[in-house]
Amino acid sequence: MLFRFFIRSGLAAIGFFVLCATPILADAPPYNIKDGKVDIHVYNGYRRYGDSCMRCHGPDGAGSSYAPDLTDSLKRLSEDQVKETIINGRQNLGNGQDKVMPPFGTVPDVVNYLDDIYAYLKARSDGKLPRGRPERYDDN
Ligand code: HEC
Repeated sequence: MLFRFFIRSGLAAIGFFVLCATPILADAPPYNIKDGKVDIHVYNGYRRYGDSCMRCHGPDGAGSSYAPDLTDSLKRLSEDQVKETIINGRQNLGNGQDKVMPPFGTVPDVVNYLDDIYAYLKARSDGKLPRGRPERYDDN
């Protein structure tokens, strides 16, 4: 009887902790930067961005005459909206525009690393990461 009580209150305590911690965890940025050096995810995102996105969105996510500055876009768009746009692409053919964001939903080099690409762009957008190739810190 007493034993059951302990198990129940233990579970309740865990539940309470999860409830309290969730908003804190949800607010944590998706990147880690220490002394100007980035974690492996941001670094990987930087490389994937260079391979798949830079030809249109320009170096460092800063935009080009063809495609928008993603450091601005990420101030406005939610994480889900960004990922949805990457997966499905978008076409802006109205008003004499002929700009196309291709869908990457079937490109493994992109869809398998959506979190990393987002983390890199978010760090750039938050002003936490300067332009150029970031350095990676060792302990990850
Ligand atoms: C072939 C050129 C091209 C490539 C490659 C490309 N994009 Fe785009 N992207 C565009 C264009 C053009 C738009 C704007 C489309 C519009 O106005 O509807 C856009 C829009 C976006 C948006 C929405 C921006 C906003 O402000 O609404 C995001 C996010 C985005 N791209 C991310 C990426 C990422 C990440 C990659 C690499 C995985 C990538 N794009 C690769 C051309 C490209």
